Amino acid sequence: MKATYKRSWAEPYKIKMVELLKMSTKPQRLKAIREAGYNTFLLRSDDVYIDLLTDSGTSAMSDRQWAGLMLGDEAYAGSKNYYHLEAAVQQYYGYKYLIPTHQGRGAENILSKILIKPGDVVPGNMYFTTTRLHQELAGGTFADIIIDEAHDPLNEHPFKGNVDLNKLDAIVQKYGAEKIPYVSIATNVNMAGGQPISMQNLKELHAYTRKHGIRVIHDMTRVVENAYFIQKREDGYEKKSIREIVKEICSCTDGATMSAKKDALVNIGGFMATNEWEVFEEARNLVVVYEGLHTYGGLAGRDMEAIAIGIAESVDDHHQHARVGQVEYLGHTMESYGIPIVKPIGGHGVFVDARAFLPHLSQDEFPAQTLAAELYIDSGVRTMERGIVSAGRDAQGRNYYPKLELVRFTIPRRVYTQAHMDVIAESTAAVYARRKRIKGLKMVYEPKYLRFFQARFERL
Ligand code: F0G
Repeated sequence: MKATYKRSWAEPYKIKMVELLKMSTKPQRLKAIREAGYNTFLLRSDDVYIDLLTDSGTSAMSDRQWAGLMLGDEAYAGSKNYYHLEAAVQQYYGYKYLIPTHQGRGAENILSKILIKPGDVVPGNMYFTTTRLHQELAGGTFADIIIDEAHDPLNEHPFKGNVDLNKLDAIVQKYGAEKIPYVSIATNVNMAGGQPISMQNLKELHAYTRKHGIRVIHDMTRVVENAYFIQKREDGYEKKSIREIVKEICSCTDGATMSAKKDALVNIGGFMATNEWEVFEEARNLVVVYEGLHTYGGLAGRDMEAIAIGIAESVDDHHQHARVGQVEYLGHTMESYGIPIVKPIGGHGVFVDARAFLPHLSQDEFPAQTLAAELYIDSGVRTMERGIVSAGRDAQGRNYYPKLELVRFTIPRRVYTQAHMDVIAESTAAVYARRKRIKGLKMVYEPKYLRFFQARFERL
């Protein structure tokens, strides 16, 4: 009989420097979360053990990126690092024109101001908090056109980020193409649980929008993770490199906003990119008002250098395998404890279904907010609410009631080890074992914009 050997994957890097973690006691954590109004955003990071609040700006840079910081050309205008970044955006994504911004929402602000007129409708594959807010502030209304499967945490559709073209067509018929400045497409949809859009769907969307003269604007914050899923799940792509797939995705769109703090492996930065000269001209005018000169957009030269290097590292097949592989390892370990999670497991984190975890709480008792606080109390692991608090209110002040009421365990890139993943899953299992005794929260302070960042709660 032929012997078969197990072949594990491992991270394609080794560790050169470490940051020590602080351990805390349960009484310390109880005090900290009470003082933070049961909002994990209001905790001090010093009080956190394993930080899964976000994968945004929290990744570890490589030695080459750190070396790149030393090559910062801090000229006010025409820094050489701007030209490096421009070349990377052209080479790896294929967009023609680049406007750097301090982070993703800076790009969203400028793009929304240029393209959206009051009364416009912006269809998209599920909202993102800052993206939708900028669309609304520019006078637009967001319309969700993601497939229904995306709203069902148990549905195992391989491409839950797909657009339902019938939903899009209904909007085009109702409002007319002239009221739709663009379709807003996110790759690896954050709010759906880090779920990809397929290349086939993108191509169909591209063909449809071409026919109606509507742009596709790409929120490419997690485009490389999306490309990984296409390589693994879509017919005809298993032999293509992630690098090739990323470029093909971008070629189905007309422009992009990017938070480089995610896939591009930096702690700060973002950009807007477009293939249209007129949009670029307008953006070069506006960026000076809101961000900085068009060759730095709120970034230091060194930041732009780190992004340029990070973009190249991010499209490596081995990097992406280890990145998503670690997230999948955490998801599978949680499943082995019976913890209800969004399926398929996403690209940037594991999303726990707080309604199924705490079925005795109504959505007005903030199940996901409650669960995030309980996890912190158990072990010092910091996660984030992605449910009714994040969804906020509509223009009339009514609460949105999202179908998904989730806690996001977001994994920073290249930061934690497999042993950390075990500790996280075990802590979640401990909270799951005592779930029936957990009481909900009431909101006692609500900020006007993006309330999830600063809202405060008390225990019921
Ligand atoms: N688009 C998506 C899909 C995002 O996930 C984010 C940020 C942004 C845009 C805005 O970019 O933060 O650089 O201004 N998401 C972070 C998160 C905050 O934790 O998911 P930014």
